[in-house]
Amino acid sequence: MSWDPDVYMKFANERTRPAMELLARVPLNAPARAIDLGCGPGNSTALLAARWPEAKLEGLESSPEMLAKARSSGVRASWIEGEVESWSPEARYNVIFSNATLHWIADHHALLPQLMGYVAEGGALAFQVPRNFDAPSHLLMREVAKAGPWAAKLANARQVNVLSPDAYYDILAPLARTLDIWETTYLHVLEGDDPVLAWVSGTGLRPFVQPLIADEREAFIAQYRARLREAYPRRSDGKTLLPFQRLFVVAAK
Ligand SMILES: C[S@@+](CC[C@H](N)C(=O)[O-])C[C@H]1O[C@@H](n2cnc3c(N)ncnc32)[C@H](O)[C@@H]1O
Repeated sequence: MSWDPDVYMKFANERTRPAMELLARVPLNAPARAIDLGCGPGNSTALLAARWPEAKLEGLESSPEMLAKARSSGVRASWIEGEVESWSPEARYNVIFSNATLHWIADHHALLPQLMGYVAEGGALAFQVPRNFDAPSHLLMREVAKAGPWAAKLANARQVNVLSPDAYYDILAPLARTLDIWETTYLHVLEGDDPVLAWVSGTGLRPFVQPLIADEREAFIAQYRARLREAYPRRSDGKTLLPFQRLFVVAAK
């Protein structure tokens, strides 16, 4: 599945803020080695580079388009093309950081112990995932997918991998010295026409529209757009509000 860094970064401030808030809770002052898993265009890696100028920093990313953007970002890091689930580093890290990526990967019961195994003693695993899969933006995507002529094609378009906060506690408590888990619902104030459609086009909508051919894709988007307009009406000041729930975990080892 391809990613478009420019579409993704249309909401750069909103998308990078959770990374800042996650990073602020990582309890290490001077880690020697840190990695940003699913670094995207390097926006989250830039925060790590600014906080820890002395650290040996890496960014791992599966999308060549995103990685090309990261490489040209000027952020001081080594960039690795690869998939988190098959990543198997030779040495351990003081910080493994991942903002808005792990929800694309299945089976967190297996993934998180694996990642904790790559964290050095005294280090931390920190990640943030959206937990908005029951919000109208995502419910409507699934409803339109089920109801159209594309239903068979989209039957397995997207799996929800994110677990509940207490499930993350149960997985990580035996492996962590301390655990810091919290949720935030941001109220994003968006501008322009169909801004919720523009938002999800950079992320969650891709698995639904990429399997469709041109006419089908247009028809799918037209139906979805109409439903979004009802669910997220423009306010009298012209703005559109998008509530967005996110889950944060910092596991210190
Ligand atoms: C929503 S973006 C997050 C980018 C950045 N970390 C940020 O904070 O904005 C998710 C990124 O994860 C990457 N990604 C998704 N699945 C991945 C996987 N299995 N392994 C590595 N990267 C993955 C995508 O290519 C995409 O660039």
